[in-house]
Amino acid sequence: MSKKILITGASSGIGRALAYELAGRGYALALTARRLDALEEIRDDLKTRHPSATVVVHPLDVVAYDTVPDVVAACAEDLGGLDILFANAGIGLGEKVGKGRFAEARRTIETNLLGAMATVDAAVAYFLQQGSGHIVGVCSVTGFLGLPRMGSYGAAKAGFALYLKSLRAEVYRKNIHVTVLNPGYIDTPLNDMLKSRPFLVSAEKGAAMIAGMIEKKVKSSTVPVWPWCILGPLLRWLPTSVIARF
Ligand SMILES: NC(=O)c1ccc[n+]([C@@H]2O[C@H](COP(=O)([O-])OP(=O)(O)OC[C@H]3O[C@@H](n4cnc5c(N)ncnc54)[C@H](OP(=O)(O)O)[C@@H]3O)[C@@H](O)[C@H]2O)c1
Repeated sequence: MSKKILITGASSGIGRALAYELAGRGYALALTARRLDALEEIRDDLKTRHPSATVVVHPLDVVAYDTVPDVVAACAEDLGGLDILFANAGIGLGEKVGKGRFAEARRTIETNLLGAMATVDAAVAYFLQQGSGHIVGVCSVTGFLGLPRMGSYGAAKAGFALYLKSLRAEVYRKNIHVTVLNPGYIDTPLNDMLKSRPFLVSAEKGAAMIAGMIEKKVKSSTVPVWPWCILGPLLRWLPTSVIARF
């Protein structure tokens, strides 16, 4: 039977590319994001490419925390169950501390940390009742170290990764798997304005790697694996004088 996955942030970038990748692999998809028109366009295109595919769409703002459980339940009902949550919705604003940009920092934490936690919380409630499930959370290599202008983003991603590791221990022996993904640079609208994007991979390539990691139920991985699996831990040891130049 085909696997059923709910993707948050499916209207663009990694979430969108993963929807295309998994539709090709026969998954049933519930696509969510704030922009319903973008989701409907993706659904219609996927149905043209894969006429037998199951693709449902639901608008979801992960910051509207109280609405998240109902949307997760509606997706599960539409798909006739749920096997995987891909908690991916996020923003990348970037701001300096002490420059009157606290509103952006707050929005980043509300979306990338609290919104992600709200989504995971709702899906875990469903999985506990069902007796099985798989949570996949999109964190970032930025969460490995404190980069200038990325304080709120890095804090949100490091916080989400820790939250997921705590969850893994909590649901141990409950047949619920937890995967923590830490992308490096994947080519999406989130980062296409940056001057430097080391070891960049396309969204399509990144999505294919992520699909493989989901299917293997890896506990944790960088995306791509190489060279970030080596660089990630090393980055933590960089002196502040070097990090300050980033
Ligand atoms: N690209 C990279 O190199 C990279 C690296 C590390 C981590 N990541 C993480 O990967 C995830 C996806 O990013 P991306 O690169 O694919 O960026 P993207 O192309 O900008 O996509 C972000 C997605 O998140 C959705 N989103 C944003 N705010 C939302 C909210 N409040 N509620 C629901 N959905 C929301 C957007 O849809 P709507 O605007 O329609 O809501 C969009 O579908 C993010 O969590 C990001 O931090 C990306």
